Amino acid sequence: LGTAVIVVAAGSGTRLGAALPKAFVDLAGQTLLERSLRSIMLLPSPVQVVVVAPADFVVDAQAIANTVAPGLEEIVSVVVGGATRHDSVAAGLAQVLPSVDVVLVHDAARALTPTTLFADVEMAVRATGAGIVPALPVVDSLKQVDVTGGVLGIADRAQLRAAQTPQGFPRSELDAAYAAASASDFTDDAAVFAAQGGAVTTIPGDDVAFKITTAWDLNRAHHVLGGIPD
Ligand code: CTP
Ligand code: MG
Repeated sequence: LGTAVIVVAAGSGTRLGAALPKAFVDLAGQTLLERSLRSIMLLPSPVQVVVVAPADFVVDAQAIANTVAPGLEEIVSVVVGGATRHDSVAAGLAQVLPSVDVVLVHDAARALTPTTLFADVEMAVRATGAGIVPALPVVDSLKQVDVTGGVLGIADRAQLRAAQTPQGFPRSELDAAYAAASASDFTDDAAVFAAQGGAVTTIPGDDVAFKITTAWDLNRAHHVLGGIPD
């Protein structure tokens, strides 16, 4: 296997406020994790999949993996995550098979991400050797504010993009970047990669790859599914 996808699902989902960790919350009959995995398993070439789960949900994650990829225990594994997303990605990276040369990192919370976006990111990493971030133009006007909400300035949104996942990287450089990263105040993998000098390029993101963060987002995902019959 030349490609691995690390699916980070070890967060608690504080902003969603559900009784379960976010990746294990139901969305129209399937958990967010199951929906993310199903999209990945539809890739035309097989990939290694590493699910990173909360310690108390490893068994649940394993059961979901077995449902989505029956009999594929060798290439779909589950590991325990860490206190931060950064730590969870590092835990996933430690499980990547020796043969893998391209790693994609994906938020389980982006449950409606289409298979094509995974394929596009993988292809772009292989074509360029760079880190690849799917990203969308920013539509709102952007304000820099002080702690009271007073506007200090503006940012030119034409020069900005909103980053999504999956983000893809050459494996050896991503390993080295995570090994060298000290602070965990990076909000995504491309930031870790770039901090060690890796080149990062964007490709077009996808509207339906939005991250389910709040109850409003979960509701939006329900509506999206309602509009697209299986
Ligand atoms: N994540 C993780 N390990 C952590 C924190 C986050 O694997 N310690 C994962 C989440 O499961 C999610 C993705 O990283 O799939 C994006 O994080 P986010 O949307 O912030 O999820 P949570 O951290 O769970 O949510 P919140 O910040 O609202 O608590
Ligand atoms: Mg979080």
